[in-house]
Amino acid sequence: MTRESSLADIFQIGYYWETKILLTAVKLDLFTALKGRSLTVIEVADARKLNPRALELVMNALVAMRVLTKEEKLFTNTQVAERHLVQSSPEYVGHLLLLHDAEWSHWGKLEQTVKTGRSPVTQHVFETNPELGAHVLTVLDRIGQGSGQGLAKRVPIHGAGRILDVGGGAGTNAIAFCQENPELSATVFDLPQTLCVTQQHIERAGLGDRIHLQGGNFHVDPFEGPYDLALMSDILHYQDGKTNAALVKKVYDCLHEGGRLIIKDRFLDPAKTSPAWTTAFAVHILVNTECGECFTIQESCQWMDQAGFRVVEELEPRAMIQGTK
Ligand SMILES: C[S@@+](CC[C@H](N)C(=O)[O-])C[C@H]1O[C@@H](n2cnc3c(N)ncnc32)[C@H](O)[C@@H]1O
Repeated sequence: MTRESSLADIFQIGYYWETKILLTAVKLDLFTALKGRSLTVIEVADARKLNPRALELVMNALVAMRVLTKEEKLFTNTQVAERHLVQSSPEYVGHLLLLHDAEWSHWGKLEQTVKTGRSPVTQHVFETNPELGAHVLTVLDRIGQGSGQGLAKRVPIHGAGRILDVGGGAGTNAIAFCQENPELSATVFDLPQTLCVTQQHIERAGLGDRIHLQGGNFHVDPFEGPYDLALMSDILHYQDGKTNAALVKKVYDCLHEGGRLIIKDRFLDPAKTSPAWTTAFAVHILVNTECGECFTIQESCQWMDQAGFRVVEELEPRAMIQGTK
C-alpha cells in the first residue's frame, strides 16, 4: 500500500510559489543575462529593463532554490543553470519551461473547467504556437536522446519496407528506425508547421532520401500507402477516444494485409489512478486541449479490435501495443 500524504506533503504540493518564480525567471531570461559573469541586481535590472526592488526578491528566492548563488551583492548562475537555462547553451531546456509558463493561465481556469466540463482552449500548442511547439520537440528530442533508438531496437521490423509515423513530430522515431534498419523508408505525417523542424533534423541525420514528409491534419487529410508498419507515438492525448478510434481505423485502412500498427503512449492503469505522473498529465491535457484525455491499454486495444486488426497484443506493459492486420 502506498504511503498517505502527510500535512507537509500537502503544503509542499499546494505552495506553488517556487514553480512560478522559476518559470518567470526563465521567461525574463535572467540566467542568460548572468551567462559567464556575476552581476548585481541593478545590473540585471538594467539589462532586462526590470524593477530592481521586485527583481531582488525574485533573485534572492532563486538563490534559496539553488539555481543562483549570491556573494556580497553579486549574483552568479549555478552550474546547472549555466548549462541548462542560458539560451545560447547547446543544452538549453528553457523551452519546456516556457511551455508551462505559457499554459499558466489555462491552469488558472481549472476550477471553471471542472464545473463546466469545458476546456479553456480550443486548440493545442502545436496549433496555436507552432514555434514554441517545435522548440519543445527539439528539446524533447535532445533530452530523450536514445529514446528513438531504444524504441527502434525494441520493435521487431519483420522485413517491413515502408513505415508511416503518424504525428511523427521532430522525426526522432523515423530517424532511429531508418538508422537501425537500412532497408526501411519512412513517411512522417504531421502538421505542416511542425514539419519545418522535422526537415532540419532529417537533413542533419543525412536521411533526406529515405524519409519523406507529408504535411496535414491526421483527422482530415488522407494517408498515402500502403505501408507495412505504422507508428502512433505519444499522439493519443490530443483528442477524445471516439476520434482516436477513427484514427486507428484510418491507419488500418492504409496498411498492407499483414501490416502492423504500433501504439506507444503514456497509458494509465485500468483504475486510472496510476502512474502518478500520468494522472496529473491527464489534468494538464484537460486544460490545455479542447477534448484530449489519457487512456488505458485496454481502451486502445479496443480501438484496434474495432478497426479490424486480427491480432492485438501488448508488446510492453503500460507502454506499447501492436495490432496486426
Ligand atoms: C507529443 S508530439 C509526439 C511526436 C512523436 N510522435 C514522438 O513520439 O516523438 C505530438 C505530435 O503530434 C502532432 N499533431 C498533433 N495533432 C495533430 C494533427 N491533428 N495532425 C497532425 N499532427 C498532429 C504534433 O504536431 C506533434 O508533432
